Amino acid sequence: MSKEIKGFSKLSKKEKINWLVSSYFKDDSHAENILKQYWNSNESLQNLHDEFSENSISNYYLPFSIAPNFLINDKKFTIPMTIEESSVVAAAGKAAKFWMKHGGFKAKVINDEKIGQVHFFYHGNKKTIVEYFDFVKPILFKKTESITKKMKSRGGGITDISLIDKSSQLAGYFQLFATFKTVDAMGANFINSCLEEFANIFKNSTQLYEAEKLNKEEIEVVMSILSNYVPNCLVKTEVSCNVQDINSLEPNTTDFANKIIQAINIANLDIHRAVTHNKGIMNGIDAVVIATGNDFRAIEAGAHAYASRKGTYQSLSNAYIKNNNFYFELTLPMAIGTVGGVTNLHPLVKLALKILENPNSKELMKIIASVGLAQNFGALRSLVTSGIQKGHMKMHLINLLNKYDITQEEKKLATTYFKKRTVSSSSVENFIQNLR
Ligand code: MEV
Repeated sequence: MSKEIKGFSKLSKKEKINWLVSSYFKDDSHAENILKQYWNSNESLQNLHDEFSENSISNYYLPFSIAPNFLINDKKFTIPMTIEESSVVAAAGKAAKFWMKHGGFKAKVINDEKIGQVHFFYHGNKKTIVEYFDFVKPILFKKTESITKKMKSRGGGITDISLIDKSSQLAGYFQLFATFKTVDAMGANFINSCLEEFANIFKNSTQLYEAEKLNKEEIEVVMSILSNYVPNCLVKTEVSCNVQDINSLEPNTTDFANKIIQAINIANLDIHRAVTHNKGIMNGIDAVVIATGNDFRAIEAGAHAYASRKGTYQSLSNAYIKNNNFYFELTLPMAIGTVGGVTNLHPLVKLALKILENPNSKELMKIIASVGLAQNFGALRSLVTSGIQKGHMKMHLINLLNKYDITQEEKKLATTYFKKRTVSSSSVENFIQNLR
């Protein structure tokens, strides 16, 4: 069968699988079973999942874990985390436990403004487009009232629209730059609907203006879309304790607190380290973002752009000592929601939000950032003391063993054997060979 197909989306799920198997797995009788073994026997649940996306033929499991003992703004939380990487959840829990004893995380939302742009070209007289924008601005607000009414009643809406002249960088390029508050929704659909309507109104209201001055054909709209760079949708979280307390956490490491500060100094001047440092933060952040049904790609893209805001890519976290106190903090943009998207649909997402006691979006921003900071603390703690591999490989042992279709009995023997030995791919292989 050909690997090219027309009208694939119109096929039934069974037909899609048949096509896939006959195109790619002719000699593999297991492929179909693998896909089917992840189907849910509850038909309506399966349909719900199928309909989240297109052309879906199975479900893709990720572990749904929980990390207890987070104290955030004096409230205790158990954090749902969805991540495939071993040792991330354990590290988060361990860091949380230490900081719970030292006052926990103090988190605050600095701002919650979202951004969207209509990108267009105009090569005429600049004064005319500026005047036209001033004329049309109230119309943009007025004519989008049917879209904004509900959001306004919840306390959100369009906060401002401005005209940005980028024509010195790209001939004729301008933007309608709009800011929004979307309350508990991430707001992508709301923002994009407003923007597309702005584009439509902006182009088609020229006849209401001084017609002889501006012709609608002079405005060439290229696209209307929200921005995932939201430097005014910021959350900050912080932990602190006195220097003796943090140093006594790692008595075998000289001046542990300063080592953490140096680790951040390194990340601030070396991009290779900074990206990995921030990846460690995103281990925690993405895990909660995914568990709570939010768009981790948006959060990732926005966070890394924010890490570059000074012109070089740097650490998202910061640490310093002041008055004999060690401070460790994280500030990053976080456009998430607790309503809309799959948040009200996916049963595990609903459960995750319940575990967090149904936070609003600002509360969730604080929780997610705090998990990111805990994760960063856990990673740096290992890195500047024993190294990351010791703990990580211990956690990864089971995954390495599972490659050999290991029995429960063998698993027990292996766990005992590796308690005081270094875990690596080859040491596990040797162990299995000797055992069998
Ligand atoms: C691994 O997933 C994350 C770390 O590399 C983060 C870091 O190096 O800071 C351990």
